[in-house]
Amino acid sequence: MGQRNPSPGQGSVLPPRAVLRSSIEGALEELRGPQHRAAVLSASRAAGGRSLVLSAVQEGRPVPKDEHPALAADVLDRARKELDRLPPDPIAVAGFVNTDDIALSLVLTRISEKHAAAPPRPGVLKDITGVKRYELLDPGWWGSLANRLVHKRAGFISHSSPEDFRVEIAEDRLSLALVGDWGTGLPSSQAIAGHMTALNPAFTIHLGDVYYSGTTGEVKSRFLPDWPAGAIGTFAINSNHEMYAGGEGYFGITLKQEPFRLQKASYFCLSTPGWQIIGLDSAYEASDLLYQKGRLSEAQIGWLKAQLAEGARRGQRSIVLTHHNPLPAGEGAPDESLLNQMIEAANPNPFDFWYWAHEHVAARFAPYGAPGRQFLGRCVGHGGVPYAPETAGGKKGGGVVEWTETEPAGDPDEPRRAKNGFVSLVLDSATRKAEEAFIDEFGVQKKSGSF
Ligand SMILES: [Fe+2]
Ligand SMILES: [Fe+2]
Repeated sequence: MGQRNPSPGQGSVLPPRAVLRSSIEGALEELRGPQHRAAVLSASRAAGGRSLVLSAVQEGRPVPKDEHPALAADVLDRARKELDRLPPDPIAVAGFVNTDDIALSLVLTRISEKHAAAPPRPGVLKDITGVKRYELLDPGWWGSLANRLVHKRAGFISHSSPEDFRVEIAEDRLSLALVGDWGTGLPSSQAIAGHMTALNPAFTIHLGDVYYSGTTGEVKSRFLPDWPAGAIGTFAINSNHEMYAGGEGYFGITLKQEPFRLQKASYFCLSTPGWQIIGLDSAYEASDLLYQKGRLSEAQIGWLKAQLAEGARRGQRSIVLTHHNPLPAGEGAPDESLLNQMIEAANPNPFDFWYWAHEHVAARFAPYGAPGRQFLGRCVGHGGVPYAPETAGGKKGGGVVEWTETEPAGDPDEPRRAKNGFVSLVLDSATRKAEEAFIDEFGVQKKSGSF
């Protein structure tokens, strides 16, 4: 942070789709060839046609070494299917594609790592022995990843008292910059970082997703070098992509950086005289095992209820933050289980605002929920991933999008992509008003309001 990466976007340049597909095919062919065939077949048979990754996750068991080739074949096969599900010509910048699929993300992580590694030098013994080991098909790599995912996840940091993870700030007017799905290392993310810095907010908050799998290497190359810390500090929310590598980069690296010193866990409450901002971890215990559907643990819900009660006692307005989106801004269904968890937690002390990300889009929703208990929902998932614009209006999920970013970014490399951006918030304690502005990757204010 503060120190510019000497090679911006390092590791983000990926081969075109056709090359990607043929790499996967090649790896699969070799895994099904004479050297690995027996192991792959017997492990697949033992799994009875079930996905090895899913069954390992469900059972929470370590993946033994002799199952690593079968597991690699399973993940690569899933990744190939996902690749084929993407549009024939997906919106991409420097090969960066928009995917939330765990298998394809892991493959992309592996390929990026290979690209970022120094090219082999011919004639050097190290490279002759090393090449095989670090290729896409290397079963050992998949095995260790699967074990991080299901067996050796980074430890969750839990509160022992409801007062834990509260940060009291005396500022009567608190400025914040929020951005989600920012960890791409792409030029638009870097431009956004510059505009966030120019506003000099007290705090910056990342709403999650460091691509493709939140590994230690990806956090160090795509997140930390350009992440703009606020004047007082910075926070980061846990997410599905962070958890694809078991949360190793998020818990092991990000939260240990000095600018994150006020953040003691993956959930926190930032409290000012008139406001509280409650960051939540909807990813660690996601309800679908593969981190697509958000869920809060019972303990975290108890802690959240205590924060909302304390806020009501102090007369504060409350803002909640999650990575996962309860409402879609485009196609898709609402995440009913997350929505219901939060609505229940907000009884009897409702929150006023809910900022989320995960869907790669900007959206300001109309007030949502039962009369007297409505919240203002916002999606700030347009922080860096190249995406196609959505439209405003009523959505199938029941929400109404009052505003969304529809302008193309004018990117000569990808004319179809819409502008990335972030949100600036100023929370006034005297008036209890929030000044909110969506700002694009060029630093232009797009939609603002006082709520
Ligand atoms: Fe994302
Ligand atoms: Fe996400």
